[in-house]
Amino acid sequence: MDPVLQTLLRNQGEFVSGMRISEEVGLSHTAVWKHVQSLIEEGYGIDCIKKKGYRLHTLPENRWIVEKLSLLCHYPVEWFYKPEVDSTNLWAKEVMVRHEKPSVFFTDKQYAGRGRLGRQWESETGKDIAFSLAVPLNTDVCHYYQYTIMMALAVYRVLLPIVNTTTHIKWPNDIYIQGKKVCGILSEMLTEENRLRTLILGVGINVNSTPSLPHALSLKSLTGKEFDRHIILSEILNGFFDLLHQYGCGDFAPIYEAWRNALMGLGQKVRIDTGQKVIEGTFIDINEQGIAIIQTDQSIEKVYSGDLFLSKS
Ligand code: BTN
Repeated sequence: MDPVLQTLLRNQGEFVSGMRISEEVGLSHTAVWKHVQSLIEEGYGIDCIKKKGYRLHTLPENRWIVEKLSLLCHYPVEWFYKPEVDSTNLWAKEVMVRHEKPSVFFTDKQYAGRGRLGRQWESETGKDIAFSLAVPLNTDVCHYYQYTIMMALAVYRVLLPIVNTTTHIKWPNDIYIQGKKVCGILSEMLTEENRLRTLILGVGINVNSTPSLPHALSLKSLTGKEFDRHIILSEILNGFFDLLHQYGCGDFAPIYEAWRNALMGLGQKVRIDTGQKVIEGTFIDINEQGIAIIQTDQSIEKVYSGDLFLSKS
């Protein structure tokens, strides 16, 4: 990113002297001044006051979101932002057919948000988080769930200290707080001959909205506070890429262990509705592919997908 802009953004709303910018970015005073003039022409609102320096107060429409996100995120991803879109997962799929860099697709409004098992995903305009992270890969499709594990763990680790109350990852990939859903993840793949080429991890989080569904909750409805969605999003991405780095070093076991420890219902009586049948039994284990092992009265069942409920005992 443009280093002059980066310095101004880091100090947005405050004056930064020309001398400080010169020192930080290694340009002469005149070059900094010229640079600032070209930013103003691009639509950045910058006050230039003698003896005080430069103060960035507004960004061009739409631009500030991407600038802010790329400043907050420590990893080099490409940012795609639109104020509204049908679904960030669909948008990511369209773009990633011809795009090879890790990319984040973020919006303030989804008018056809998609959930698991063909369901809809509702979020409130400008209040919730809806984004899709697209990761170009070249791996066997059997590894796809490990990326979902990393995303769920990254979200869990960001949300837990915010709410500081009972938080779980609910199989296969939801985050529940005090027994209510706050986040859902929809993983989709672009494949070629059984190779996973691009993984799209679509994440929806109820942040500042007032969810109407009785089993849903937002961070605001729980804490009474408003949250900066961009900070939460970038913390999740930083956490995810940290885990991805660890995974790349062949160190998946501690990630899996941390995820497993956060799971809801492990070792307990559960009911899983697969869409075809309902399986009731003890949730005895889960593997790295996300296959849940349920001990029923008659047998041990492997369950690949479905909705999990804790049984009332
Ligand atoms: C679920 O719990 O059913 C998964 C919900 C996933 C919703 C997110 S919001 C961003 C991304 N775009 C979509 O259309 N869906 C995912």
